[in-house]
Amino acid sequence: GENPRIDDIKTKIRVVPNFPKPGIMFQDITTLLLDPKAFKDTIDLFVERYKDKNISVVAGIEARGFIFGPPIALAIGAKFVPLRKPRKLPGEVISEEYVLEYGRDCLEMHVGAVERSERALVVDDLVATGGTLCAAINLLERAGAEVVECACVIELPDLKGRERLKGKPLYILVEAH
Ligand code: PRP
Repeated sequence: GENPRIDDIKTKIRVVPNFPKPGIMFQDITTLLLDPKAFKDTIDLFVERYKDKNISVVAGIEARGFIFGPPIALAIGAKFVPLRKPRKLPGEVISEEYVLEYGRDCLEMHVGAVERSERALVVDDLVATGGTLCAAINLLERAGAEVVECACVIELPDLKGRERLKGKPLYILVEAH
């Protein structure tokens, strides 16, 4: 590539074959987190993109969106809202189910965490089928927020998750095949 920071980030993501089950090439970002320069470059690349876009809320998806989302939110002066798996949030929630390869899962958001007309950025580590990001977009839109963009470190482009994001733009640093 032509961006040395992105090239370095890519080398720090460990690919683990057959995890968590046969045939899956797991994209492990824990090895990226072990390298302070590459971890900081990852956050800086997102901050440079979003700092002047009037984003008022960064919504991070459990679990790895909780690693990348908060430092971005702090740097751009936005609040952070966790989108969690079911029965984790103690207050009143709204829920969105989504389909997995086998079965269903669900994301929840606290009622009142986001106000109408806020400008939201959705953050996660990886987009595969796009089902998780689609559920996140639906939660934010039900709360009246405008989803400006979704940001992930890694995209699995072969799964075409980008096409499931209701027309919202997706920004990624690294493509994995
Ligand atoms: C992974 C990843 C994304 C989601 C993407 O999370 O961190 O959140 O899958 O997949 P999709 O685009 O097909 O929806 P996972 O389901 O492993 O949950 P976890 O973060 O709680 O381990």
